[in-house]
Amino acid sequence: MGSFLNRRKLIQASFFVGAAGPAGLALAQDACFGTTLPSQPEGPFYPVKPQRDIDADLTRVVGKTQAARGEILDLWVQVQDEDCQNIEGALVDLWQACATGKYNHPRDPNTADLDPNFQYWAKAYTDASGRVKLRTIKPGAYPAAEGWIRPPHIHFKISAPGFRELTTQMYFAGEALNQKDLILLDLPLEEGNRLIVRFDREEGEVIPKGVFTVQLKRV
Ligand SMILES: [Fe+2]
Repeated sequence: MGSFLNRRKLIQASFFVGAAGPAGLALAQDACFGTTLPSQPEGPFYPVKPQRDIDADLTRVVGKTQAARGEILDLWVQVQDEDCQNIEGALVDLWQACATGKYNHPRDPNTADLDPNFQYWAKAYTDASGRVKLRTIKPGAYPAAEGWIRPPHIHFKISAPGFRELTTQMYFAGEALNQKDLILLDLPLEEGNRLIVRFDREEGEVIPKGVFTVQLKRV
C-alpha cells in the first residue's frame, strides 16, 4: 500500500508539470516509442444493441435534426506499427458516454440523462496515411464507485490484419480527475501519459483538434 501511495504522489507531481507547460504530455503524442500503446480494461459498457448509424461523426445521428450536446471535438486517430509505420485499413471501434457521463447501455447504473442526439459508438477505418478523423463530444465524468469518479475518457478497440487487437482508453489533458483515476494510475507514468491527448484550436478553426497515436503489435 505504501509503495502505491508513493507512486501516486509521483504521478500527481508529474501530471502537474505536464499541465504547466506545452512540452510534456502533448509531445508524448508525437513521439515514436517503439512499443505498443498500453492496453486498458474494456469496461462493462461496450454496446450490446445493434445500431444503424455508426459512422465517424458521433455528433449527428441519422433521423435526428439536433446535434449532440457538449463540447464538439475533432479526434484524429493515427494507427501505426511498433516502428511507427502507418497502418492503412485499421478498424477503429470506439464507444463513450455522452456529455452527462451516461452510456447507451442497459446496465449503466448512472442516473444521468441520455442524450438522444449523440451516437455513442462508431467504427471507422484508417486511410492510406494510417489516420481516421472522428467528430465527437467530450464525454462527461461519471461515478464508478464510492469515492471514485472516472475522468472523461473514450474507449477503443483497434485492430488490423496481421496485428493484435488493442483495447484501451483515451483521456483528456488538463483533467484534474486524471490524477486520481484508479485505472489510469494502474499504468506506469510514461505509459499513462501516452493515453492522454491534448485538444487545441488551430488558427481560424472553431473545433478543437487532438491526435491519439496508437501503436499495434504484430501477430
Ligand atoms: Fe468508461
